[in-house]
Amino acid sequence: MPDENSVALVTGASAGLGAEFCRQLASCCDVIIAVARRGERLLGLADELAGTAEVHCLEADLASIEGVALVLEAMRQKGPVRFLVNNAGVGSLGAFVDSAIDSQRAMVSLHIDASISLCRAAIPFMQAAGGGSIINVSSLGSLVISKDIAVYGATKAFLNYFSEALHAELSSSGIEVQALCPGFTHTEFHDAFGEAFDRERIPETLWMTAEAVVAESLTALGSGQVMVVPGEDNREIARSGLQRQLASLQ
Ligand SMILES: NC(=O)c1ccc[n+]([C@@H]2O[C@H](COP(=O)([O-])OP(=O)(O)OC[C@H]3O[C@@H](n4cnc5c(N)ncnc54)[C@H](OP(=O)(O)O)[C@@H]3O)[C@@H](O)[C@H]2O)c1
Repeated sequence: MPDENSVALVTGASAGLGAEFCRQLASCCDVIIAVARRGERLLGLADELAGTAEVHCLEADLASIEGVALVLEAMRQKGPVRFLVNNAGVGSLGAFVDSAIDSQRAMVSLHIDASISLCRAAIPFMQAAGGGSIINVSSLGSLVISKDIAVYGATKAFLNYFSEALHAELSSSGIEVQALCPGFTHTEFHDAFGEAFDRERIPETLWMTAEAVVAESLTALGSGQVMVVPGEDNREIARSGLQRQLASLQ
């Protein structure tokens, strides 16, 4: 966990895992910069956490260059950020060939361009401060190759590689990097899929709460573990997925 008196920046803080990261980090961070497009949701979170942490609400669309620039400026003004959670994300379900390419490209910008930009800006401050933690929220879907999530899964696989390589580059400077790979988690994430996604088809045992996912992520900090798959059932699925990929090389 980060030291007291530290600043956290959490993207996608208006719902789900991002809001929960803010709640759990509030006990050990004085200041939280909470970023998302829905400003009224962020204000609600700031009210909820009043008295525990100072929440700076920042409305920004991280799929746009302008939105990323706003966050970089906030980081410069309110930082140094000791704790960066690149969590904002959207899903996509369906055959790539039928997808709207603009929305796929926007997802690439959100998951990849925004995450690397915020890391690039935060790391020099973390180095100067002698340490810091970066959590890039990936997905179990990046470890189990599936149809209908081609670009989504690929952006998350990017974050896995990026996090592993960055962790190796930075380990001597006291900065740790985690790629958090949640499985099915009760948030608003699947709402956008409408009837294309049937929650009932997923066994109840595979669903986790945002509280449990975030708690596993924060508990793993300091362990040196980069890839964090919360939940034993999910870890078993991840192992099988990776074994299938390895077997295809033989
Ligand atoms: N839930 C799952 O089952 C699951 C599984 C694996 C991985 N994940 C990953 O977990 C992360 C968090 O998702 P969640 O489950 O918490 O979903 P969620 O409840 O839908 O929350 C997504 C968050 O991302 C923000 N966001 C989306 N597009 C944005 C944009 N263009 N600019 C800024 N913020 C944006 C949303 O805020 P606004 O709409 O207000 O902008 C919201 O705060 C995502 O990266 C997702 O890929 C989720």
